[in-house]
Amino acid sequence: MSRESDLKGAVQEQFGRVAAKYLTSAVHAQGEDLPVMVDCANLRGDERVLDAGCGAGHTAASFAPYAAEVVALDFTASMLRQVEVLADDRGLTNITTRLGDVENLPFPNSAFDLVVSRYSAHHWARPGKALSEFRRVLKEGGRFILSDVLGFGDPVCDTYLNAIEVLRDPSHVRDYTLEEWSNRFAGAGFNLEVVFPYRIFLHFDEWTERMETPAVNRAAIRALYNASPEEVREALQIDDEGHSFQCAVLRGTSSPR
Ligand SMILES: C[S@@+](CC[C@H](N)C(=O)[O-])C[C@H]1O[C@@H](n2cnc3c(N)ncnc32)[C@H](O)[C@@H]1O
Repeated sequence: MSRESDLKGAVQEQFGRVAAKYLTSAVHAQGEDLPVMVDCANLRGDERVLDAGCGAGHTAASFAPYAAEVVALDFTASMLRQVEVLADDRGLTNITTRLGDVENLPFPNSAFDLVVSRYSAHHWARPGKALSEFRRVLKEGGRFILSDVLGFGDPVCDTYLNAIEVLRDPSHVRDYTLEEWSNRFAGAGFNLEVVFPYRIFLHFDEWTERMETPAVNRAAIRALYNASPEEVREALQIDDEGHSFQCAVLRGTSSPR
């Protein structure tokens, strides 16, 4: 098996086990970024929207009342079942689910007006490939809205951030920096705007329980917290309860092909 399919298998295995926890997770179900994402899309109501890496469907459900159709795509089948539960619960009849990989989308060219993705991109080993796929399935002038944790330009803070992330969840690839996103957006033909910088606080126990992080890894994260230099403690706002991550809502408008 290739390194890439190993990695994707790890993501599917990891999320397959904990899918139901993502339906009730406050970080995913709520969050100040969700209304901002919807707002900055300026939808008319007749659009087709793709939610790429939809997880339990909180982003798809936020967009559904404002669009004609939302396709919720994920490559973890048990997550798509959670989307169905959520859509039923909220009486949303315009969400359909689709099993698929963001790096190889099962859709024809120009099939969507908008692609959105939230808290999934840090699992993508080839984000440039995913962005090219989004561009391909978007109509001329279509938009891509991303919300995710951001890495740090400072190498020390960036190393600690990604070490903590991968100890908590071995399927984590990387929290990409704004500069990395900027290059990837440009490479795929999107003009990037930073719409909304924000932070999320992660309560240590909830954050590790949601992912069923083994005790030995929890201890290693605590050890890293304790070993962190001052700049890392400040950048991650580490305290007894947990830490916080810097995040952003980014909007890409496709430039003419
Ligand atoms: C934290 S969840 C997403 C949360 C969700 N978007 C929300 O707003 O609540 C991350 C999801 O990304 C999915 N994922 C990761 N890599 C993927 C890929 N290459 N293709 C499709 N889905 C992917 C995982 O299966 C997982 O369900």
